[in-house]
Amino acid sequence: MAHPNLKIPDGSGEECGRGHACGFCPQEQTCTLDKRAHNKTLVEARLGEIGQIVLVLGNKGGVGKSTVSANLAAGLAARGFRVGMADADIHGPNQSRYFGFAGEHIRVDARGLAPKHFTDPALRHGLRVGSLAFMLQDDDAPVVWRDAYKHDFVHHLMGSFDWGALDFLIVDMPPGTGNELITLTDLLEGCDVGALLVTTPQAVAQMDSLKAARFCLERGLPVIGCVENMAGVVCPHCAGAFHLFPEAGLGEKLTALGIRRLARLPLDPAIAAGSDEGRPVALDPDAAPPVAEALAAIVGACAALGSAGFQDAALRSLDAAFAENLEDEDLARALAALPEAEREQIGRALAEALTEESGRLHGAASAPGGKA
Ligand SMILES: Nc1ncnc2c1ncn2[C@@H]1O[C@H](COP(=O)(O)OP(=O)(O)OP(=O)(O)O)[C@@H](O)[C@H]1O
Ligand code: SF4
Ligand SMILES: [Mg+2]
Repeated sequence: MAHPNLKIPDGSGEECGRGHACGFCPQEQTCTLDKRAHNKTLVEARLGEIGQIVLVLGNKGGVGKSTVSANLAAGLAARGFRVGMADADIHGPNQSRYFGFAGEHIRVDARGLAPKHFTDPALRHGLRVGSLAFMLQDDDAPVVWRDAYKHDFVHHLMGSFDWGALDFLIVDMPPGTGNELITLTDLLEGCDVGALLVTTPQAVAQMDSLKAARFCLERGLPVIGCVENMAGVVCPHCAGAFHLFPEAGLGEKLTALGIRRLARLPLDPAIAAGSDEGRPVALDPDAAPPVAEALAAIVGACAALGSAGFQDAALRSLDAAFAENLEDEDLARALAALPEAEREQIGRALAEALTEESGRLHGAASAPGGKA
């Protein structure tokens, strides 16, 4: 976790306690507080409550980034994780539709912008969806923004939405490797972030999509793997499989870049219908086996990355707790009350016991089946 000790401003001290950026504030013109500090604290506080962030990107338009994002989010939520879906697409925000909230709006209050809660019998926790679409007057209104507005929106997406505590935040990126991606990767520096690439099999898509891979490698952004979407079709009549797009050697190109192909997700009408109807196919127990298997592989890879991060964070907290306990004032007082010889002996025994326990937990994390 990035900043586990920060809390959302609570009105104490110098902070105004508002859970939204100053740009949404009715008092912005008259407020004399440090606005830059407020906006910075807000983003840090929100990010401090999020375990693992997954950026879904592919540079190329229309290859299925939003579809994979929605199904990944739903698949993780179906495994019991607390999941948020942040739609970073300003010109074509689709997640409102992909989770059944098309045309709906949200308001800002003192806690910030409330994400929509997608609920389903298959989910233990509601999946939180944040998108610019909830702030647009009409679904089909074009967004014509200069870069400064886009920069601000990316900050609002992370800071002004009241995400709460999340195990995973999935970020659906727009096509391109421009402003939104650069702003976001800058903002998320120091957080647990992984990139999931999405492409389609044909040469023209790969040519564009693999630029996203290079962007990640150059920025030092860990790549979880690549999803080859629209990889084959199964005929609904004869059940024969065929490829709609010519294959262009994606496997070798990924290998050359050191990136795993996580899954081949076929073209399947149920995937498109799930998106249009607002219930990702990942929640459908009757999904076709090749679709279900591909989605399970994608969800599994991201869950494994998250688990490794969660274990690291837990071990870091435990280490801190162990160190703190040894320096704890109450403990020092209790030891001080003992005769000197016993004080040293008990102090040593305690330190050994805590070190042994810490070693045991670290060992468990690195043993097979522990940390990835
Ligand atoms: N495997 C698939 N099978 C069937 N339909 C699919 C599949 N993947 C994506 N689609 C459909 O293709 C269309 C485009 O997908 P999607 O919106 O996910 O692409 P995108 O990469 O996010 O596009 P953009 O670049 O505009 O953000 C949608 O209608 C979606 O339902
Ligand atoms: S302008 Fe910013 S700092 Fe001032 S009250 Fe509003 S949100 Fe808080
Ligand atoms: Mg999209």
